[in-house]
Amino acid sequence: MALRRIVLLGDPVLREKAEPVDVFDADLAALVEDMFETMYAAEGIGLAAPQIGIPRRIFVVDVRRENDPERRPRVVINPEFVERSADTEKAAEGCLSIPGIEEVVERPSRVRVRAQDVAGEWFEIAADELFARALQHEYDHLDGVLFLDRVSPLKRRMALKRWKKLREDEGATA
Ligand code: NI
Repeated sequence: MALRRIVLLGDPVLREKAEPVDVFDADLAALVEDMFETMYAAEGIGLAAPQIGIPRRIFVVDVRRENDPERRPRVVINPEFVERSADTEKAAEGCLSIPGIEEVVERPSRVRVRAQDVAGEWFEIAADELFARALQHEYDHLDGVLFLDRVSPLKRRMALKRWKKLREDEGATA
């Protein structure tokens, strides 16, 4: 296992439409292990392959809660939405590729996702609350969409300004 470098906003790989996975082999399993390790090291609840520079349709999520088997750590490959609720929910989101920035994003409250696991077996997950939000946020990464694309233009401009400032401050102290 190895930690991978998380790419940041501005890297073009975050804007690519990721390619489906068609080979379910030991290399894929190793990549998924690295993704979990990288996500936990960064204290995230989700990580998509494009965020480590790999434009493939793979993400990992872990929004574990006690006694809820649906919320175990999951690898989600070639996902598709089977259902998205009409009712929506607003909550703050952040992203490991845009550290230090949070914005409130409105998304469908409940989703049902069909996807493949690391062995290529299809499964379905029904999710609500944080789990539904994480699935949608990570799915967006596979289409080159970031959470800031889902806030108002004004909020996005302000967030990007804060992001730029944060990067400059970091550069100044490095
Ligand atoms: Ni993200």
